[in-house]
Amino acid sequence: MTPLELCGISLRGPVLNGSGTFDARAAHRAFGDALLERFPFDAFVSKTITLEPRQGNPPPRLWETPAGMINSIGLPNKGLEGFLASDLPELARLPVPLIVSVMGFSREELAQLVCAVGEHDEVSMLELNVSCPNVETGLIMGADPAETALAVERLRSETAKPLVVKLTPNATDPGAVAAAAEAAGADAVSLVNTLKGMALNPQTGEPWLGGRTGGVSGPAIRAIALEQVATVAARVGIPVIGMGGIASGRDAADFIAAGASAVAIGTENFRDPAAGRRIAAELAELSLTRGTRDTSSMPV
Ligand SMILES: Cc1cc2nc3c(=O)[nH]c(=O)nc-3n(C[C@H](O)[C@H](O)[C@H](O)COP(=O)(O)O)c2cc1C
Repeated sequence: MTPLELCGISLRGPVLNGSGTFDARAAHRAFGDALLERFPFDAFVSKTITLEPRQGNPPPRLWETPAGMINSIGLPNKGLEGFLASDLPELARLPVPLIVSVMGFSREELAQLVCAVGEHDEVSMLELNVSCPNVETGLIMGADPAETALAVERLRSETAKPLVVKLTPNATDPGAVAAAAEAAGADAVSLVNTLKGMALNPQTGEPWLGGRTGGVSGPAIRAIALEQVATVAARVGIPVIGMGGIASGRDAADFIAAGASAVAIGTENFRDPAAGRRIAAELAELSLTRGTRDTSSMPV
């Protein structure tokens, strides 16, 4: 696979994982050092962490849809201290650059996270998961261009490391949010996060998921994601990391043709833990035959 530079970080190829869709520590326990020798991704994105530990949502947490699933995991995590003490040392041993995903319920919480995580040399970049309500305003940070800009402006001075803003597709105008993130100092944007969805218990007609609603992912959302990636890539000059239902090299090539500099694999990892490698190989093959843009020469 052709190496590329993403926000000044050298990657051996353009295939990342979507945050929260590949547990590298569990995979290491299951597959041993073979995982490290043939690591499926060219950079690893951690599951989103928050300042305080979270239990996540009550079960059930998953529902299978046609060509996808709805998850209502609710961001269970050990919190910043637990992550730094027990996860980071293990993730730092992965053979690829590490991107840590953070989410805060206020700009100050986000700032604490970015500052603390950004201090660690093992961390190459930070991804801001802004698909959550700001407790001060009640607005979903990433759904509103002005809220996104305020958050990125506040965080910019907290770290010199590249900041990737992960956009939610549940926004009226994702292109405007991306442009606001860029103007405020973001180094890249990634999209899409999950689309809001719901499933009902067939027996009771009540919401199936413990969290009532959840996020739809997988091939079911691919066409929507592709359109949003194309729209955002046309609006911003910073690199775009595209995701949403990618399950093959052909899908990945489509996202790159739509303007993504790199792609991320999410739901497909649950079906095939080696999907990242397979998709990278298929993409490399296609780049030779299909004349897709060579990502190594892209201005990222
Ligand atoms: C089970 C599950 C957990 C996820 N956890 C996170 C998370 O912690 N942080 C985040 O930013 N996105 C999270 N996502 C969203 C994915 O990273 C990705 O943006 C989304 O699923 C779309 O890609 P896909 O259709 O290939 O799965 C999660 C998705 C799934 C399915």
